[in-house]
Amino acid sequence: MARERWGSLAPTYDEDHAYISGTDMVRRVQRWLRVQVPDGEVIELGCGTGLYTRAYAPRARRVIATDISQPMVDFASGRLEHHENVAVRRADACRTGLPSASADAVVAVNLLHIAEDPEGIVREARRLVRPGGRLLVVDFTSEGLPVRKVLSGMVRVLRRWGPMPQPKGARHLDLARLRRLVCEAGFEDVDARLLVGEAMDADVLVGRAPGRPTGRG
Ligand SMILES: C[S@@+](CC[C@H](N)C(=O)[O-])C[C@H]1O[C@@H](n2cnc3c(N)ncnc32)[C@H](O)[C@@H]1O
Repeated sequence: MARERWGSLAPTYDEDHAYISGTDMVRRVQRWLRVQVPDGEVIELGCGTGLYTRAYAPRARRVIATDISQPMVDFASGRLEHHENVAVRRADACRTGLPSASADAVVAVNLLHIAEDPEGIVREARRLVRPGGRLLVVDFTSEGLPVRKVLSGMVRVLRRWGPMPQPKGARHLDLARLRRLVCEAGFEDVDARLLVGEAMDADVLVGRAPGRPTGRG
């Protein structure tokens, strides 16, 4: 279900996303990722068109960007082909098949609040991150926005994408729930905060896998 729905949006996703969420917030999240992503091995879950991958890829030694939707993977592959350190693969974020403890950072942008199994995704992220490595989560949210802004956001979604049925299991994740989810999966030193935008806000979270970094990140 997620696969077909998101895949059909791939050709216009970037423009629609900026229209719905505000270009100011897209840029702020890109800047945040450029600061947070380490110079190391990065795995991205639910990369979509690679809009955010492109922003931080020059900082990373190597990136494996994954998405469940083949049209999204095809779009991201084309966009990122000039980045020699980036490989794009189709994978379910709950079971990527990538080796355990192989990443200095796992990135998930706008994935957890639309996914059927956010717990499964965070558990998979925990498996993938090396000791001392980071989980970086971004989820755009209307949490705390005035009703007028929430309603105009809903109108913008409807105009571009029509009704967006939530997958079974998907649920609203506010900052506290996001933090709990990540702590329960075994991440430590969790720092979760809200970036405030003109049209929409974003929850941003950094968690650290227990243990000392191996010196590769
Ligand atoms: C809202 S889009 C976000 C795309 C991108 N991260 C961004 O912020 O521009 C959600 C993406 O997650 C992907 N997705 C949904 N469920 C997934 C899953 N279980 N595993 C991997 N990708 C998934 C969809 O195909 C879609 O590309």
